[in-house]
This record gives sequence, C-alpha cells and structure tokens, in this order.
Amino acid sequence: MPIETLEDLLLEEIKDLYDAEKQITKALPKLAKAASSPDLKAAFTEHLEQTKGQITRLEEVFGYLGRKPKSKPCLAMKGLIEEGQEQTQEDAEGSIKDLMLIGAAQKVEHYEVSGYGTVRTLAEGIGNEEVASLLRQTEEEEAETDRKLTGIAAQLMQEVDGVSEEEEDEEEELDEDDEEGDEDLEDEDDLEDEEEEEAAPPPAATKAPTKKR
Ligand SMILES: [Fe+2]
Repeated sequence: MPIETLEDLLLEEIKDLYDAEKQITKALPKLAKAASSPDLKAAFTEHLEQTKGQITRLEEVFGYLGRKPKSKPCLAMKGLIEEGQEQTQEDAEGSIKDLMLIGAAQKVEHYEVSGYGTVRTLAEGIGNEEVASLLRQTEEEEAETDRKLTGIAAQLMQEVDGVSEEEEDEEEELDEDDEEGDEDLEDEDDLEDEEEEEAAPPPAATKAPTKKR
C-alpha cells in the first residue's frame, strides 16, 4: 500500500515502534540479569513493566486509526539490542559493566524518544489529539527513564572514581620520596598560573544568577 498521507506515514512509524517495543520487552530481562547495581536492576525491571503498558498504548493508537495492530521489523532496534547484548558478554564487571549496560540502554531510549517525537508530531499535525496524547505519555516515560539512567550512571562513576583515587593515593605514597624536589618546583609554577587566573576572572563568573535556588 502506498504511503501518501500524513496518516499513512503515522501508521508506518507506529508499526516500527510496535515492533521496537516488543523487542525491548525481550531484551530488558537480560539487561536486568546482567546488572550488578540493585538500583540499575530495579530500573530495568520497572521499565519492562512500563514498556508493556506502552505496547498496550500503541494498540489503542491502532484502534483510533481504525487498524489492527501490526509490526514492521525495526532493524535499528535489532542492531541496538544486539550491541547491548554484546556488552553483557564483555570482560568487565561491577560498576564498569553496569556503566556499559547503561550506555547501551540509553541508546535505545534515545531512539524511542526520537521515534515517539516523530509520531506525536504527526498525530498533532493531523489533529488527532487522542493519539497525540497517548504518544506524548510514552515519549515522557522514555525521557524520564533516560534521566533516571543518567542519575544511576553518575552514582556509579563516583564509586569507580573513589576506588581509583584510593589506588592512586597508595601509589603516590610509595613514590613520594623520589619526586619531592621536582614536585616543589612544579607547585611554584602552578601557583603563579593560579594567581594570574584569579586576577582576571572570566566575565561569565561575575554573573551567575542560577546559584540562588
Ligand atoms: Fe518504550
């Protein structure tokens, strides 16, 4: 069937997202299983439940468009999920592995935010507010999931960074005697640089109205 109208185009895009969401429901349990952080496991499991609701919402959209639910294979999602599954097999563990999984999951979320943005805009364009409203809800859930993953990633990075700093401190203590003289000279240079910077602050630093919140 030719794709000629905005409604035809909307329908095609909905079929793609319908397939993408179904693929995601199969991938999320594997990501949850591979994750170490309890927060990350919970986020993946919670998003699985959310995704099932999103599939139901898409079925409602098909209904509003007078069509039966139908999938069109979403190759992009297939590729993103395959790449995510490769990550679960990588030789990494703990927080580093979790950060890899988050990276893979966020690529999926961004694809979805983009896809739902397109169909929501098309629905608005043809004046179908019921469909636009359903799609907007999912678009917001995907964006919220992305933000949540960013938050978990920030925590995990701090943990990894904390561990690396402890290791660095131990190494520095061992090297301290050899390098003390050189370090003093470098420190003097650093001080001069810092004084210069303080004397001429960048103009942006003088007006920072956002800090009052
Ligand atoms: Fe989704």
